[in-house]
Amino acid sequence: MRKRALTGIKPTGTPHVGNYVGAIRPALALTSKYDAYYFIADYHALTTVTDPVELTQLTYEVAAAWLAMGLDLNEVTLYRQSDVPEVFELSWILGCVAPKGLMNRAHAYKAIVAEAERQGRRGVDATVNMGLYGYPVLMAADIILMSSDVVPVGQDQAQHVEIARDLAEKFNFIFGDVLTVPQVSIRPTAATILGRDGRKMSKSFGNVLPLFAESDELLATIRRFKTDSTAPDEPKEPESTGLFQIYREIASPGETEKVKDALEGGRMSWMGLKDVTFELLDHFLVEPRQRYRDLMSDPGQIRRILLEGAEKARPEAVDLLARVRTSIGREDYER
Ligand code: TRP
Repeated sequence: MRKRALTGIKPTGTPHVGNYVGAIRPALALTSKYDAYYFIADYHALTTVTDPVELTQLTYEVAAAWLAMGLDLNEVTLYRQSDVPEVFELSWILGCVAPKGLMNRAHAYKAIVAEAERQGRRGVDATVNMGLYGYPVLMAADIILMSSDVVPVGQDQAQHVEIARDLAEKFNFIFGDVLTVPQVSIRPTAATILGRDGRKMSKSFGNVLPLFAESDELLATIRRFKTDSTAPDEPKEPESTGLFQIYREIASPGETEKVKDALEGGRMSWMGLKDVTFELLDHFLVEPRQRYRDLMSDPGQIRRILLEGAEKARPEAVDLLARVRTSIGREDYER
């Protein structure tokens, strides 16, 4: 049997080129090898997104983005976390074997506390909701509920997956061998794309290149990428701008080599790079953009797709949860 790979996508921003290169494309590349379960972690987003219209919109945008970029529903079970409510019961149960100190050490939580302290804010405890604090427990439940073997994530989520391992092992130690202990699979970090201002492309920096912008907006955003003041005919450092990275990720190695040589040899201006990058991306995105537009104009269709995914995932969730319930001493319910 193929091993199961599961990953969650937190819907907190409109999908951008960095998401595609860094997360969507590598995850789609795994789907031929693994039994892939990919889901939209909408209740994880609820720890920070408190506008109901926005939460729905972002959930649909993320689902539409993955579908538009080539997610094949015959290969992947795609669902929305909150459509599989068994996860919340498992989350509570795992919370009961999770030491509080383990949560204190979670990077994401520590980062929030550090940032609040940096701003000199007092009463950090009042601003960190319990959802944020218990975030790794729900994430462990996501993983364990589906008996996942492998969890492909970026480096920033590796510790959370380690926590899931710890909780699965601890549960098994106390209640018997019921849970699959997952393994982390860290994506190569080579594909960190720089944004418009030269920092990592990220929604929180407001420096992103949206994946599904119309051509004119795409061009305008590419034009606004920061480049240094090297003259058109001077040698340039290709890696100094995210545009070259984007070009390289999409173009063939041969095309990339040519552009690199031209930049380094002072035969291509930054403006020239902007033009070729736009041409390449605009062409690459013609079909995905159309698919994305079609999906977003019919939210009912996205809703149906996600529900169908949940229908496939739920029987397994119910099954695992039944075994968990039995092992903790709660008699199973009639199914
Ligand atoms: N925390 C992950 C992120 O922010 C999203 C996520 C939620 C996840 N549940 C998961 C990832 C389970 C992998 C497995 O990117």
